Amino acid sequence: MTSPDSRPSPSPDGSTTDGLLSLHGPEFAADPEGVYRRLRAYGPIAPVELSPGVPGMLVTDYDVALEILRDQVRFPRDARRWQQGIPPDCPVLPIMAYRPTCNLTDDPLRSRLREAVTDALDRVDQNALRTFVERSASRLIGRMSPLGEADLRTEYALVLPLLVFNELFGCPAELGERMVAAVREVLKWENSEEANMTLGLAVLELMALKRENPGQDVTTWLMEHPAELTDEEVAHQIVMIVGAGSELAQNLIVNTLRLLLSDERFGGGLSGGSLSVEDALDEVLWTDPPLANFGISYPVEPLDFHGVRLPADQPVVISFAAANNDPSTRAEDRAGNRAHLSWGVGPHACPAQGQARIIATVAIEKLLDGLPDMELAVPAEELTWRPGFIQRALSSLPVRFPSTPEPAPPPLAEPYPVTEAGDEDVPETPTASGAEEPSAPKAPARWWRRLANWWAGDAG
Ligand code: HEM
Repeated sequence: MTSPDSRPSPSPDGSTTDGLLSLHGPEFAADPEGVYRRLRAYGPIAPVELSPGVPGMLVTDYDVALEILRDQVRFPRDARRWQQGIPPDCPVLPIMAYRPTCNLTDDPLRSRLREAVTDALDRVDQNALRTFVERSASRLIGRMSPLGEADLRTEYALVLPLLVFNELFGCPAELGERMVAAVREVLKWENSEEANMTLGLAVLELMALKRENPGQDVTTWLMEHPAELTDEEVAHQIVMIVGAGSELAQNLIVNTLRLLLSDERFGGGLSGGSLSVEDALDEVLWTDPPLANFGISYPVEPLDFHGVRLPADQPVVISFAAANNDPSTRAEDRAGNRAHLSWGVGPHACPAQGQARIIATVAIEKLLDGLPDMELAVPAEELTWRPGFIQRALSSLPVRFPSTPEPAPPPLAEPYPVTEAGDEDVPETPTASGAEEPSAPKAPARWWRRLANWWAGDAG
């Protein structure tokens, strides 16, 4: 370990006026591994700037990351004391601020919420999930294929998980379309109160529908769980699952497609490569994990830890990306090795690893089958990454392919039908549990209005 006195002075290149290395500037987006390399010279944990004027400590060491992720006592997740000193328009506040969701709370609340979330996600039938992904993929591929070119991020990977979530949550067509639009707005992370409100109201409307007429879907399972979540708690878990899950699934799909389309070992993405889609997925989980830096905790008092003083109420951020590539533990041969930290570890580890793998694998395989002669439209070196420390996400993934003569299916602005003409070859509309679904009800107005008022007071 490096002693405090022998630590290097931060270089002016990519560092802030306080001498901290920045995780929000263009240097970091262009070369995060270069920044992690410089941070490792400080020891296992280094001071950084997370967002303009927002300092934090970044953990780059694999073993230290594991120790922190497993220790809920010294490293609690509750951000409320930290956020008191943060301006309301801070761009990372929407994702870091306290909410009553399992990822941002501590026991005993965390266990109660987590139990409901894991049980509800575990009830999703894998075959039904595959059907949802295949059906959504076919629609999106059908829309792109006559055009000869596409941005696979915005036209495919961004939309597909949202369509799948609509099905998993038992969302009727028109409401589902509003939810997709609202999540897309919220995920621009422009601190949009209006988009937040629209999403909140759509979720409450969905819950009102399910209260009236429960179904075999994640919404109903959360509402009826023996942990007895309040309506507010259910709404918050839904927004968290759909928001975080769809962004991370999107990144996993895009980062893996980039590798498949640019690396000769995978045959440039097409036939002839020696490695499979699953291999590419595993490689991305090691090298470009969708959630690059998160698992944020806030020690409640100053802590001397591995030779570093961690201030009270300041964020300690786990760099899943840096820890995966920690030179002291890095195994050269990673084939079949899944010891990366990219799904998290300990009490907050991702409860949807299996589901996320199915979504990404089926989405990618369907795309490679549907557009077999697809190639990158720009050299791989010219692809750019979105700024910010939390996600490892491409700005766009432009491709071209021979166009097909078929007319494009209706644009996505039209309601996304859960069942529609043209799906007749699907014998039954699957539900999230694989069982048959009753018809949709009318929302009970008074209950809904009460919750809507609550959300309006709470949003933003
Ligand atoms: C179907 C899509 C997904 C869903 C529904 C989902 C859901 C969740 C939920 C609910 C949590 C919070 C768990 C808790 O704190 O108790 C979580 C955590 C996490 N997820 Fe996922 N996830 C999805 C996809 C992904 C993907 C693709 C990745 C990246 C490979 C990922 C990585 C993580 C990580 C690293 C954590 C732990 C973060 C922490 O320690 O704070 N997830 N996920």
